[in-house]
Amino acid sequence: MDLYLWNSHLTMKEVQETVAYQILENKAELSPSDRALLEKAESQRSLAYAPYSHFHVGSALRLADGTIIVGSNQENASFPVGICGERVALFAAGAQYPDQPVDTIAISVASEEEDLAPAAAPCGMCRQAIAEYEVRHQRPIRLILGGETSTIYLMESASQLLPLAFDASFLQRKKD
Ligand code: THU
Repeated sequence: MDLYLWNSHLTMKEVQETVAYQILENKAELSPSDRALLEKAESQRSLAYAPYSHFHVGSALRLADGTIIVGSNQENASFPVGICGERVALFAAGAQYPDQPVDTIAISVASEEEDLAPAAAPCGMCRQAIAEYEVRHQRPIRLILGGETSTIYLMESASQLLPLAFDASFLQRKKD
C-alpha cells in the first residue's frame, strides 16, 4: 500500500483499499471446526459481565496448535475500565501461549435489549489489538462473526478491518 502526503497537490494519488468477507446464511455453511468454534463463542456469552450495556459478547479463539481460548466482555462501574470479549481471549492467549499464533477468532454477540441481535464487527480497539497479533506472529487471523440471527460473516484476515493501521514501525523511526 502506498502512503501519500495528503497535502501534496503535486503528487496526490488516490488509494482505495477493500475489505473482503463472506456472508453465510447459517452455521451449516461453516466447516465443522469453525462451527464448533463459533458455538464455543456463543456459549461464552452467558459468562459476560455486562450489567451496564446489557450487550453480551462471547469469543473463542483457536491457536495454531489447536488450543481453544475463550473470553467474554467484562464491564466496570468506571466504564472505560471494562474490556471487550475478544481482547479478554486474545490477551489470555498472549499470556498463556506467547509462542502460538492465533489462527481464528470467533465472536458472538447477544443483547438483552433486542430479540435477535445481528453479528457485530470488533470495535476499533479490538481491531488494533488483533492487527498487532497478526504482525507479531506474521500470520493472518481469520474472523468469524455471529449473533443471534443466523447470518455469519467470515473474513480471512482481521487486519483488513484496520487500513492505515498504526504499528510498531512508527515508534522505531530515528532522527538522522
Ligand atoms: N464489546 C465487545 O466485547 N467487543 C466489541 O468488539 C464491541 C463491544 C463490549 C464492550 C461493552 O462491554 C459492550 O460490548 C457494549 O459496548
